[in-house]
Amino acid sequence: MRVSVFGLGYVGAVTSGCLTSFGNTVVGVDPAEAKIALINEGKSPVIEKGLGDAISKAVANGQLRATRDPRDAVLATDLSLICVGTPSKRNGDLDTSSLKFVCAEIGAALAEKQSHHSVIIRSTVLPGTIRSVVIPELEKASGKKAGVDFGVGSNPEFLREGTALEDFFAPPKTVIGVEDDRTASELEALYAAINAPLIRTSIEVAEMIKYSDNVWHAVKVAFANEIGVFCKSLSIDSHEVMDVFCRDTKLNLSSYYLKPGFSFGGSCLPKDVRALVHKARSLDLDLPLLGSVLPSNEKQTTRGFELIAQLGKRPVTILGMSFKAGTDDLRESPILEVVERLIGKGYDVRIFDRNISLSKLVGANKDYLLRMIPHVSSLLVESLDDALSHGEIIVVGNADPEFRTIGDRVRPDQFLVDLVRIKDHSQLKGNYHGISW
Ligand SMILES: NC(=O)c1ccc[n+]([C@@H]2O[C@H](COP(=O)([O-])OP(=O)(O)OC[C@H]3O[C@@H](n4cnc5c(N)ncnc54)[C@H](O)[C@@H]3O)[C@@H](O)[C@H]2O)c1
Repeated sequence: MRVSVFGLGYVGAVTSGCLTSFGNTVVGVDPAEAKIALINEGKSPVIEKGLGDAISKAVANGQLRATRDPRDAVLATDLSLICVGTPSKRNGDLDTSSLKFVCAEIGAALAEKQSHHSVIIRSTVLPGTIRSVVIPELEKASGKKAGVDFGVGSNPEFLREGTALEDFFAPPKTVIGVEDDRTASELEALYAAINAPLIRTSIEVAEMIKYSDNVWHAVKVAFANEIGVFCKSLSIDSHEVMDVFCRDTKLNLSSYYLKPGFSFGGSCLPKDVRALVHKARSLDLDLPLLGSVLPSNEKQTTRGFELIAQLGKRPVTILGMSFKAGTDDLRESPILEVVERLIGKGYDVRIFDRNISLSKLVGANKDYLLRMIPHVSSLLVESLDDALSHGEIIVVGNADPEFRTIGDRVRPDQFLVDLVRIKDHSQLKGNYHGISW
């Protein structure tokens, strides 16, 4: 395939060198004359293991050249990968000025081009940028229509400097956010030799994946460092702790706990985070990440309450009272917190939970419930049918399998508030409200 790469920094230089190694020809574009000269001399403009060799080989056999001229590059290729920088502005916002500029240049060249061309964004851009910046700039400069006269897509880069070539050939995944099948097929062909699952999705999901990935990596580093600070203060070997931590691929290094939903609760997580943060404070340790976990969780409980309150209806049915399905443990259940606030605001609440029967609850669990909601017995209903007939708002509070298909049983005039993401929710018409989707 004939590919133009706009921006010959770390990402663009690596992409250019690597693409030539499996048969593509590449024209690189950059305003920096020094980078153009280096590439045309067969040298890498950035320090990266193996890249010098790849570039010198590609230039020598005519597969790679660099230019300042965007028109030359667009007319000589079928697909452009935009790899320009998207640095931070002083206020933290993303600076898309180079992106905008390069789109205007590519657009002007597209105006002259007869054959089909695709423009793919490899730079990291906030969700919505391709639709609000890239497409309008390209359409304005070309006078053509995206998705019809030329292709547009997102294809975020996942390489790490230092191991960039290895990461290019074996990334964790290849993500393509495209709407038209022609552009999707071109990208599938371009990456056919890459050893990674290829995931096709929407433009916005592709843009967002890069941010959820990088923010997650940042959170992991900050988490490990705060655990390290805590361990050091107690003379515990943080590496031994985290070695054992990392061996748990069931709950720790896994997809578990990583889907948006309602707040955590139960008898362990809130208590243990609280104790660790309290201990850190008593040791004069400043651990901002760990200290923000409970406030973040409380915020999610408040969001759940506000989602119900903003609907302006009074009778409310809560399905599921325990913090997760399959248990009768009510301690620190966030949905109980929501119930308490609803009652305080005068809502007419009924609760259904097959695992909760006041007569069967004992000990700390029962004490906790009666302390939170003293007259709870008058709120509990015995059957799901009775529960559903009560509320103008039906709230799914935990992921009990019985509630997963509740969408089929809700009347069209009822509002369904989903804190757990029930099955087939996207098929439901009208009054459906998910907490984070
Ligand atoms: N560096 C990484 O490890 C990495 C990894 C993944 C994603 N990213 C993302 O990829 C993008 C590029 O990152 P980078 O580190 O390669 O940036 P960089 O600053 O090293 O390179 C950007 C290049 O774009 C060039 N440029 C600016 N305007 C141009 C124009 N009109 N036409 C052509 N070229 C132009 C600049 O001269 C520069 O050479 C950023 O959005 C970054 O967030 C970077």
